Amino acid sequence: MTDLIQYTTRGAVGLITLANPPVNAFSAAVRAGVLEALEGIMADDALTAAVITGSGKLFSGGADIREFNTPAGMQSPNLPELIEKTEAFPKPVVAALHGTAVGGALELSMACHHRVAAAGTRLGLPEVTLGIVPGAGGTQRMPRLVGAEAALDLIVGGRPIKAEEALELGLIDEVVESDVVDAAVALAEKVAAEGGPPRRTSELEDRVTADRERPEIFEEFRKKMARKARGLESPYACVECIEAAVNKPFAEGLAFERETFVRCVESAQSKALQHAFFAERESGKVPGVTKETSTRPIERAAVIGGGTMGTGITMCFANAGIPVSIIEVAQDGLDRAMKTIEGTYAGGVKRGRMSQDAMDACMSLITPSLGYDAVADVDLVVEAVFEDMSLKKEIFGKLDEICAEGAILATNTSTLDINEIARSTSRPESVVGLHFFSPANVMRLLEIVRGEATSPETLATAMQIGKTLRKQGVVVGVRNGFVANGMMLPYIRESEFLVEEGATPEQVDRVIFEFGFPMGPFQTMDMAGLDVGWRIRQAAAATRPESERYSPVADRICEMGRMGLKTKAGWYVYEEGSRTPVPDPEIAAMIEASSAEQGIERREISDQEILVRCLYPLVNLGAGMLEEGVALRPSDIDVIWMHGFGFPRYHGGPMFWADQIGLGEVHRVMQELYEQHGELLQPTALLTQLAQEGRSFGDWSAE
Ligand SMILES: NC(=O)c1ccc[n+]([C@@H]2O[C@H](COP(=O)([O-])OP(=O)(O)OC[C@H]3O[C@@H](n4cnc5c(N)ncnc54)[C@H](O)[C@@H]3O)[C@@H](O)[C@H]2O)c1
Repeated sequence: MTDLIQYTTRGAVGLITLANPPVNAFSAAVRAGVLEALEGIMADDALTAAVITGSGKLFSGGADIREFNTPAGMQSPNLPELIEKTEAFPKPVVAALHGTAVGGALELSMACHHRVAAAGTRLGLPEVTLGIVPGAGGTQRMPRLVGAEAALDLIVGGRPIKAEEALELGLIDEVVESDVVDAAVALAEKVAAEGGPPRRTSELEDRVTADRERPEIFEEFRKKMARKARGLESPYACVECIEAAVNKPFAEGLAFERETFVRCVESAQSKALQHAFFAERESGKVPGVTKETSTRPIERAAVIGGGTMGTGITMCFANAGIPVSIIEVAQDGLDRAMKTIEGTYAGGVKRGRMSQDAMDACMSLITPSLGYDAVADVDLVVEAVFEDMSLKKEIFGKLDEICAEGAILATNTSTLDINEIARSTSRPESVVGLHFFSPANVMRLLEIVRGEATSPETLATAMQIGKTLRKQGVVVGVRNGFVANGMMLPYIRESEFLVEEGATPEQVDRVIFEFGFPMGPFQTMDMAGLDVGWRIRQAAAATRPESERYSPVADRICEMGRMGLKTKAGWYVYEEGSRTPVPDPEIAAMIEASSAEQGIERREISDQEILVRCLYPLVNLGAGMLEEGVALRPSDIDVIWMHGFGFPRYHGGPMFWADQIGLGEVHRVMQELYEQHGELLQPTALLTQLAQEGRSFGDWSAE
């Protein structure tokens, strides 16, 4: 037998233990091992029942995603076959669950005749997040255990639940504080002694019979999920499968689930979502940092500056249970910062997102401070003061004097050279960028900026802190705007040029929204506030080449005092109390006047032109950043765009999306745009090379 399964007996019970670290995935050898063990139990008359459990920290993470769409994935027994045989097993089979039982592991558990879980076990069917439906009977068995409504919630939501909730729903039979295997063995002995045929989930009809009388629950659910599931296929496929569970005999429902699974697993969306899943994990691998690289435990932190970012960052630490000091220069600034934090938490309590106790616990971790004494004993400082190099250097000089040896000195700068900031200290190896996105307590993306002197230990600690704060960290190099904001530039620039050439802000926003972004560039700019970009453009004006094309429209909007949503007017106007953008004839007239002034003849612009003109240039620049080494891999850029700017996950991020189109085509269009519009759109060397060689970014990073 494979050593990925351990087999022992406890009295008259055969105990099968999955032993395929790290997550006991149901790879081909594991499936074969479980089946072989079951057959052994069948053949042994001294054994009356079986228990299946997992070794290590968890029961199992389910199917082996790396086997999706591969021959190994279908090798007999495939997961559906194993699950059918488990349910059909003539002796009672009990699942003993602990840690985590998700995906195929929960599907197998539901086919066991009884389920016992250790307190706190996480159970769920997250398949929907990978663009598929549970494909081994999960959509058919779950409604039979918990009813269609709960099954819709769990399967379409892909949300894991704790054992205690699962018990209440009827998904499992018992939750124990004691040893779960002992409890499962005891239950197995008891049901075996009672005799009779095992309780097979596929034969439980009460729940589905009742649900058959209420067909409206499915329509209501589809309406409720429409906003969240916009553009996605798999949530709707899950609903159809659950509907089939309710309306069809088990075998037919199972066949329907299988067909749906096969259709989904081969879909472009599923491939993109799987790419996204692996891209997020891959981003944690960084040259020079290994498992052996030591990290500094972060027991206390300080944030300097209590403005927009500083308050949000302070909350991130408090939310993670880390005591944090927030430092301002004057009492009124400090009071304002604490009021902002308190108000944000109170809003969360009011909306039911957090309890009053949780808020109180977070507030008690935050110490408001004037002056720098508080930084003397912290492990990490995040500086978030005004974007001003001389101010930042002065602060880092002070930190250098006061902070303990080995403390991490981080800056949240968006645009400044971290190497220069690091040089203002005697310990540039301890300096790193922690670039949070606004609002910092909400946005998951964290760019971790590696300076030329940043040590592996500092970087590893920064990556660790990203995880502790539940952020999606991506390591990037030093460059103006780093990767995220740097790549935003051509996207915004081209959308403004399109508007000058004949499109309208609402047309551009519609095209980008329909592609799957939460909103288009103009609505995004209005939301973020137009003044920030205006200030940056003013600062850069002196260094902008005369010959470079420049759209003055955004500046003019600011000159009119329209700073976006916060002033109820920007690219759009907003009615009192509303966040819905309304096109403004005044802006349309101003744009037309600006086009005329610059001798641009306005023309009809197609939706397709808008899409490629907004997105291909950013792919092109992404390729440039890979060449420069500022971004480590194309998938890191994908992660940044998905988490920073809402690039639709079902397109897999800009670089993956470009690969699907084919870099030959992307390059051909870029070349055309370059010839029509000039040097800002020149194809980068890497894009050109890959296009000529018929390769993709995926091939390039696999080298
Ligand atoms: N706003 C954003 O969307 C955003 C996003 C990412 C990064 N950033 C960066 O974060 C930093 C802060 O930006 P912000 O938007 O929070 O600015 P802000 O103007 O809202 O806040 C800056 C705060 O720093 C305080 N401050 C100034 N000098 C100080 C000193 N010597 N000691 C302590 N506090 C001091 C100010 O009183 C002010 O409250 C900047 O470097 C910015 O580039 C901003």
